[in-house]
Order: sequence, then structure tokens, then C-alpha cells
Amino acid sequence: MDEIIKEMERYAEANNVPIIESDSIDFIKKYIKLNDVKKILEIGTAIGYSAIQMATASDDVEITTIERDEKNYREAVKNVNACGLDRRIEIVFNDALDVNLAGFKYDLIFIDAAKGQYIKFFEKFENYLTPSGIIITDNLKFHGLVENKDSIESKNVLGIVNKIEKYIEFLNENEEFTTKFYDIGDGISVSFRKNDANVKNID
Ligand SMILES: C[S@@+](CC[C@H](N)C(=O)[O-])C[C@H]1O[C@@H](n2cnc3c(N)ncnc32)[C@H](O)[C@@H]1O
Repeated sequence: MDEIIKEMERYAEANNVPIIESDSIDFIKKYIKLNDVKKILEIGTAIGYSAIQMATASDDVEITTIERDEKNYREAVKNVNACGLDRRIEIVFNDALDVNLAGFKYDLIFIDAAKGQYIKFFEKFENYLTPSGIIITDNLKFHGLVENKDSIESKNVLGIVNKIEKYIEFLNENEEFTTKFYDIGDGISVSFRKNDANVKNID
């Protein structure tokens, strides 16, 4: 398993596939262990790296992960099978905004797909959260550019950064969810319902 994970890191680097930073995945794995997480939904599989890592946090964890890019999807299927995790990780090949998960509820939803669609993902998938579930979002610093907007020359990149800022504003003003922001990896947020009385073991 360790060798497959290392090989995935090499593949991601060589093929410019963005995968989660080590501090961020350690944070999520710790949360999974301390809070008895069983069902996880991930938006943005890429090559299956974070899904496989999350599955290793506990044998009880089951993950559904959604990917719209066919090359990444195929690579993820290959990696999940190689790790013998195909019974605990289901990979859905589709655009997350088109997927119907009616009837399913998740203890943890991990948003790690197109940054410009974060608000849409949150508004859609909050409906699939258990009452004490949490939503974790990655890349809120977007490689440090959110705090350094003046240095951005590309219009596209500026557009993404503006959308991340809008998402942060959306989280801060959300009437149903409280969000904590962590300066870990590329910037992570943890959102949970305001009326959730369960104590979260996060820090
Ligand atoms: C940052 S990568 C995911 C990395 C992965 N979570 C990891 O850490 O190993 C983002 C992935 O989300 C996918 N993606 C972007 N928008 C999507 C959407 N609307 N539906 C499904 N997948 C999407 C991209 O194709 C890409 O593979």
C-alpha cells in the first residue's frame, strides 16, 4: 500500500495532477479517527489519492467519490483496485453537479473540485450531510494567491481567486453553518451546523 501511495505521488507530480498536501490529509485522517466517521463523500477524486488515504484512517470508513475527468477516473479505478479498496471506495464518473445521491447521508463531505463551483457544491451537498456531519473544503489559500491578489497577472487565475473569496464570504455569512478556517496545507475549512450539539474533535 505504501509503495502504491508513493507511486501515486510520483504520477501526480509528473502529470501535473493536483493532490492534497500531506498536512491537510493528516488533519482529515485525524478527524476521521477521533470522530468515528463512517461515511464519506468526496467531490473531486483525481487519481484517488485522498480517497485511498482517507480509507486507510479506519477500516470502518466507506467512501463515495465523484470525478468528471475520464483519464483521472480510470487512473483512480486502477489505484483503488491495486490497493484492494474497491469494496470501500465507490468512484462515480460524472459531473458532481449532475449526480443524484438521493437517500444517502454522509458524516464527512470533502469538497476538492473546481474552485469556481464551491458555493454550488456546498449548497447541493449540504443536503446529504448527517445532522452532526461536517463539510471540509480544500485550497482556500489557492497556493497563497488569495492573500496576494496584487501579484496575479492571469485573468483566469484572478477569476478563480475572486470566486474563492466569495466562497469564504458565503461561509462566514452562512446562517445554518459555522465554519472554522485552518492555515494547514493550502488552506482548509471545516463547516458544521450551528444547531449541532455534538462536540467536534478537530484541533
Ligand atoms: C484537486 S483535484 C482532486 C484531488 C484529490 N481530492 C486528491 O487530493 O487526491 C480536483 C479534481 O476534481 C475534478 N472536478 C472538477 N470539477 C468537478 C465536477 N464538477 N465534478 C466532478 N469532478 C470535478 C477534476 O477533474 C480534478 O480531477
